[in-house]
Amino acid sequence: MAQRVGFATRVGAIAAAVGSAVGLGNIWRFPFEAGMNGGGAFILVYICCILVMGIPVILSEFIIGRSTHSNMKAALRRLSPGKKYYLFTYICIVGSFIVIGFYSVVCGWIIEYLYQAAMGQLSNHTPQEYNEMFSSLVANPWRCVGWTVLFLALNFLVMSRGIEKGIERVSRIMMPLLFVILIIFCINSLLMPGAGKGLKFLFYPDFSQLTLRGVLDAFGQAFLSLSIGISCLVTYGSYFKDDALLTRDAVTVGALDTLVAILSGVMIFPAVFSFGVEPTAGPRLIFEVLPGIFQQMTGGYLWALLFFLLVFFASLTSTISLSEIPITFMIEEHKMSRPRAIVWTALLTLVLSTLAALSFNVLEDVKLWGKNIFDMMDYAASNIFMLLGGLFTAVYVGWIMDRKIIHDQLTNGGRLKGGIVETYLIFCLRYVAPVSIIFIFLYLTGII
Ligand code: PFF
Repeated sequence: MAQRVGFATRVGAIAAAVGSAVGLGNIWRFPFEAGMNGGGAFILVYICCILVMGIPVILSEFIIGRSTHSNMKAALRRLSPGKKYYLFTYICIVGSFIVIGFYSVVCGWIIEYLYQAAMGQLSNHTPQEYNEMFSSLVANPWRCVGWTVLFLALNFLVMSRGIEKGIERVSRIMMPLLFVILIIFCINSLLMPGAGKGLKFLFYPDFSQLTLRGVLDAFGQAFLSLSIGISCLVTYGSYFKDDALLTRDAVTVGALDTLVAILSGVMIFPAVFSFGVEPTAGPRLIFEVLPGIFQQMTGGYLWALLFFLLVFFASLTSTISLSEIPITFMIEEHKMSRPRAIVWTALLTLVLSTLAALSFNVLEDVKLWGKNIFDMMDYAASNIFMLLGGLFTAVYVGWIMDRKIIHDQLTNGGRLKGGIVETYLIFCLRYVAPVSIIFIFLYLTGII
């Protein structure tokens, strides 16, 4: 995505957007958020949120990007000359740094598990031992910071060499492979004793288990998972060609992302109940459960290796898209050279990630509202920055942006039918998204 050249093929453009969306948000975060919020009811709210807010906001970001072929700040300046809406871009930049700050720590954990898998150490242990294994990893500042820094180094090396495109090409093989592997693991989990309990937990909506805080978590999870609210998909939209079918692309990204999240749930929860792990274990959930799954499979060593390698690539395409937000901004708005913008982004990220990596050990006593730095960053990124960003995008496209431009983008200048899609989009953006997001914020801050 280095220069403003556009994607060579439609598949290339979608693959890159799906590459951004599918990542640790689906495989690591979705299962544990569902686990902490009671399962089925959370998932139902999550899916509704994807339909009435997620996909409409993806489409809005595509519309803003493609109608201007520029980054968020330049786009807002062009679409609303003389107005200050472009200031919202700064929220996107801060949000993207916070996401990458905690996200890269989890990417570091993935590398550690990849290493452990390669060393053959991820088998023949009890669930209790896997629990201790994860605890000893996060308690060790050197290992946590070391893996995180290694991940960041790889991320920015790829970006500085301009080989993101190469990574995207590799991902076009890796992503479908990840999908196939998830299905194989799901089948394997479904054959475990106690699988029924896991499925019931996942798909039976017990609303007594869901709080309004859980609803906020579902919204935040949806926004993080779809990469929306911090202008990431505006950048992708800006590279789309004029004949790309925005509606179809937005639905494809939303549907594939949701499918991967649900498959991760189906892979994890039968095993959670089968091994007697607490579904509410939080961020450590998949690290406790996955090794047990591999252990039960013939050729578990290779499965483990392949799985962590694929997750590593899925995370890398996500962090590349995340880092691209501040980098494009610095280059296009502050006339920095690309290498310089990469160095600045890398340095700032390094500071935040180190703080996050230390929050389970050296800085474990530093807490705000009962959350350590890592949890605080995770919470602030998805439940505050991305949701507020989504609110802004919905209100901007729904109420402020010129309707003719929206119509043109949806119909590719009148060549396609807009009709019902446009009505649905505008309705969701004007009423459903803002009312739901504002209501939940007012409620949780105690105003209503
Ligand atoms: N959607 C990614 C995931 O689910 O892992 C995370 C992400 C990528 C969030 C890019 C935000 C973003 F701009």
